[in-house]
Amino acid sequence: MEQISDNAIASYGVGALGLGILMLVLIYAIRGRVRIEPGRANKTVPRWTSFERVVHWYVAILFVFLALTGLGLLLTRMAVIPVVGRQGFTAWTDLAVSIHNLLGPAFAAGVLVMIVMWMRNNIPARYDWDYFKQGGGIAAGKYPSAGKVQAGDKLFVYWLGLVIAGTVVCTSGLILEFPDYGQSTETMRLSGTLHLIGALAWTLIILGHALLGSLGVEGAFEAMTCGRVDVNFAKQHHDVWAEELMQMGVTPQSSQNFEESSDDL
Ligand code: HEM
Repeated sequence: MEQISDNAIASYGVGALGLGILMLVLIYAIRGRVRIEPGRANKTVPRWTSFERVVHWYVAILFVFLALTGLGLLLTRMAVIPVVGRQGFTAWTDLAVSIHNLLGPAFAAGVLVMIVMWMRNNIPARYDWDYFKQGGGIAAGKYPSAGKVQAGDKLFVYWLGLVIAGTVVCTSGLILEFPDYGQSTETMRLSGTLHLIGALAWTLIILGHALLGSLGVEGAFEAMTCGRVDVNFAKQHHDVWAEELMQMGVTPQSSQNFEESSDDL
């Protein structure tokens, strides 16, 4: 009975993830790329330090490996093995489990650093509520006020994704990977269920985040590669933060000096 309900959770979870991906693609197809509306100023301001970018990509790359091996294992167990049998799949499942277990603890450490590093940026502010009331700027030409991090990213990427899903997925993963600390069967079973639900939900959030951070929003990706963004991107998407930078006396630099440090934040 328990086995059946776990399988049902897995099937509904994978179905919900598939539907979520379809919705993301549809929204992107309808809304298209969010352009920097006045065009680029070709002057940039510092956004993320090298340390922040190294931590971000470390966590992001490990996330991709963990999601691929985790989802791969789940789909093989759910859809392939029951039909064609175990033969031929033990090599793949052994390899995927080894990679998943090797990277899991290293990922959990990175997640912890990221939570601490970006907590201050993600404290809710007065204007964050208006951001949601204005639909988060999904409608073209409407860009609600935002600080360094937009309210949608604060809620979904940081609090629901990194803090809540991150804690649930990493804690349950460690309980499952190191079962010799007196955990009961019930604790192991609950950890398995929470790990599955948390990981699927987090994967959907990260797919949305990765789509927005790359194809979805012009000028966002360079923030996490070069560490600087165009001034007009900053004013359009993070007006309160752009204003704060000006008040702090940060002078925008010409894009030719793009390589110059963003560590003077
Ligand atoms: C895998 C592909 C990913 C891409 C392409 C990507 C892209 C980006 C970009 C471009 C930014 C900067 C946006 C800006 O400055 O406005 C950013 C910020 C951020 N990313 Fe990612 N990211 C990815 C994966 C991840 C993962 C796996 C996590 C967490 C597990 C993550 C967590 C964050 C957080 C927390 C921020 C800062 C925003 C905040 O503080 O809420 N990203 N990402």
